Amino acid sequence: MQDDVIFSVSVPATSANVGVGYDCLGLAFNLRAHFTFKEADELEIDGCPSRFQNDDNLVWQAYCTACDKLGDEPTPKHITIDSPIPFSGGLGSSSTCVIAGVACALQESHSGWDPERALDLACRIEGHPDNVAPAIYGGLTSSFVEGGHTVCSRIKIACGFSFVAIAPPYSVQTEDARLAMPSEVPVETAVWQMGRVVAVTNALATGNAGLLSTACVDKLHEPYRKKLIPDYDALREAARMARASAFVISGSGAAMIAICESPIVAQAVMNNARDVRDDLWIQILEPSLAGTSITCDDNTIHHNTFDEI
Ligand code: HSE
Repeated sequence: MQDDVIFSVSVPATSANVGVGYDCLGLAFNLRAHFTFKEADELEIDGCPSRFQNDDNLVWQAYCTACDKLGDEPTPKHITIDSPIPFSGGLGSSSTCVIAGVACALQESHSGWDPERALDLACRIEGHPDNVAPAIYGGLTSSFVEGGHTVCSRIKIACGFSFVAIAPPYSVQTEDARLAMPSEVPVETAVWQMGRVVAVTNALATGNAGLLSTACVDKLHEPYRKKLIPDYDALREAARMARASAFVISGSGAAMIAICESPIVAQAVMNNARDVRDDLWIQILEPSLAGTSITCDDNTIHHNTFDEI
């Protein structure tokens, strides 16, 4: 069969939770994974480690699941993955795969690409909306699921913050990170979080680094999850010494993020982190308003940008 390009999908890396916004807040970055889909006689996957080049691959699995939910029959594909996002977890790598698979299924379906439908399908596969919402729409999002539908709202993010993403050379499974948390929390903890999540979104929207520093202190998940990240304490201290405004576990880890009020502070965090261990993946990232974009074989481009929600 001819290896014709059907279309390609580009999806941004994301950070879920943003500290105090557990399972709600998420932020898209200017670091993107690219996926290309071609018709093929049998499943072929390249551009990723060989352990992912089989029919357990998340892009393929998401495509098949989405086809099933849309009442369509999956067809074999040649999938090419080009992703700079580390596999250690926490920077939305799996969400990019899920969204790419869902996008392929939607693109082939009668209805075509639809970001709202993509969000619902991807959330059902991923289990929570805080990575997939910013990955689809870009920017800073707050999401919740109501009656099987994901409701996503956008929050402005001020220019000027730099995000130092730090991924250690080991991973944390989301399932383990969720199991590490208590199943119930006292009302005082809920009150602690509610006030702070509003303050953090406000601080990010207005560029108030002082408010961010005071408010971005989580009691819901990070105290339990940091034990799963052996370098957490040392890296947190490295970020504090460099005057980062906040230091959070990105998603369920193992990646972490230092939020800095200037590129100079970000560079200092980076230098200090490298002194903790020299085999870290570290990049200074900026928030990105560009969500998922799809390029079809007729060169039609669908972008989901800040203005479209
Ligand atoms: N909000 C989810 C969690 C994100 O923290 O478990 C997982 O990627």
